[in-house]
Amino acid sequence: MVVTSRFFPVAPQQRGLCQKALVLVALCAVRQVAAQATYPSEFRMEWCIGSSCFDHSISCAHFQLRLHDYYAEGLRPPLREAFFLATLPPVYQRELLLGCPGMMVLSHLLLAELRLYTHDPGEAATLNARAHIMMELPEITAVHLENIKHAWPLQLALQRIQTTSEMLDGRSPMSVDIVLPRCREDLAWLANGTLLQALPARTRIFVYEKCGGDVGLVEYLTSLLENHVQLIYTQLDDAADPATGLAARRDECTAYLSHVVREYGNLADMTLFLHGDPSDHTPFGLLNILLRGISSGSFSSLDFIHLGSPRLVATYNPCQDDIYERAFNRPLKGRLYTYCCSQFAVSKKRIRQRPLEEYVKMLQLVDGSVADVCERIGPSYEKYAGQRLSHCFFLEFMWHVVFGEPDNLPLRADDKTLPLPLRLKDSEERPPSLWKSYMSPVVGGYATFQHQSHESWLHQIRTHADLGRPVQRNFGDGLDF
Ligand SMILES: *[C@@H]1O[C@H](CO)[C@@H](O)[C@H](O)[C@H]1NC(C)=O
Repeated sequence: MVVTSRFFPVAPQQRGLCQKALVLVALCAVRQVAAQATYPSEFRMEWCIGSSCFDHSISCAHFQLRLHDYYAEGLRPPLREAFFLATLPPVYQRELLLGCPGMMVLSHLLLAELRLYTHDPGEAATLNARAHIMMELPEITAVHLENIKHAWPLQLALQRIQTTSEMLDGRSPMSVDIVLPRCREDLAWLANGTLLQALPARTRIFVYEKCGGDVGLVEYLTSLLENHVQLIYTQLDDAADPATGLAARRDECTAYLSHVVREYGNLADMTLFLHGDPSDHTPFGLLNILLRGISSGSFSSLDFIHLGSPRLVATYNPCQDDIYERAFNRPLKGRLYTYCCSQFAVSKKRIRQRPLEEYVKMLQLVDGSVADVCERIGPSYEKYAGQRLSHCFFLEFMWHVVFGEPDNLPLRADDKTLPLPLRLKDSEERPPSLWKSYMSPVVGGYATFQHQSHESWLHQIRTHADLGRPVQRNFGDGLDF
């Protein structure tokens, strides 16, 4: 495996020296900072492993701005960037430290605050110590140190570590219930330490069998799970579809609501509602972070978190509006924005904010006793029409409302009520690299929209083309518009 790399800073002003190569970063920063009080703004890294090449850039200025906004107002914390910086090979960390000292120091302090929630205090202490070691390096001379103190939120970051640590001192471990509707999925992941690091000391697992199931499951699971984990197995038969007379599968919604109705008076501190195979829509990493915080009790102020990875596209559908109104006794104003795929964690307090009778009513709404009159738009994944009542499907868009969140559920990264470790930036679209792709002539201004033939564009937009197998073409390949 051959790894080649290139690393260069992009200065706000075009100063030749700063543009060149690895070692010159330090030179520029150290020599010029006293006179000009400026740092390179953006760092660009390229590396290849074999024939696959990557490029990544990190902006010192953006990171600084986002840190400021996080410490001052609780806005989206730059966690992904901080993880990127603190996990770079140390030689790169050093270059960035010399090029933009505040960025490297503060990334470690932000992560120290984050790790307090989920790890042994030694982890935060290590990150904190690294930040201080960096500030004490002889290369970080007085002028850089003054910069870190006055241009970066150093004091706020240190204070935050202190107050978070004090706040978490009084925590006590929380109990958790894991609710799993099952339809033949292999639940061995519950006991696979590679996937799920550890279950909290007080864990109950409720399996709701929806597809007949096999008698051996309980014995099999019990043999896998550690002794402290309690397993509660329930056969859950959905009602017959009134339209077809067939026993219909209602997906997760009947299991979730049955669980809340049955256990309303006997809930754990936190309930995780998950699928038989949660990793289809939720990374195990997020589950592990959540379980760590529950185990230690540091997430005791958490009331609701959606665990979906992709977001749902908000839709307008009269059927959805109707179900919303019947579930919540109020008309839906606006649209429902949330994550995909019905997996989330809810505190006992939050579940009990809604009276039991309302869950009973919702369960009746979805259990198959009310006919589905929704028109099917888009893929319905049904073996026969009506196999999956759309009540259950549409609940997917409103579980967060069921559990007391606003119709427009913020992105986790933007949600100020969530503990810091749960505010990682979501998976999101990955547009092509700006400077290396077909976009670069346009982005760089060399090619313009104005000089495209509008008629040709219009013609192509209006004309159906059978593309057959998808073929990707690059701008330089003579794309004709
Ligand atoms: C645990 O999960 C990993 C990753 O999916 C898999 O490779 C491994 O075989 C699993 N271990 C067991 C004991 O099932």
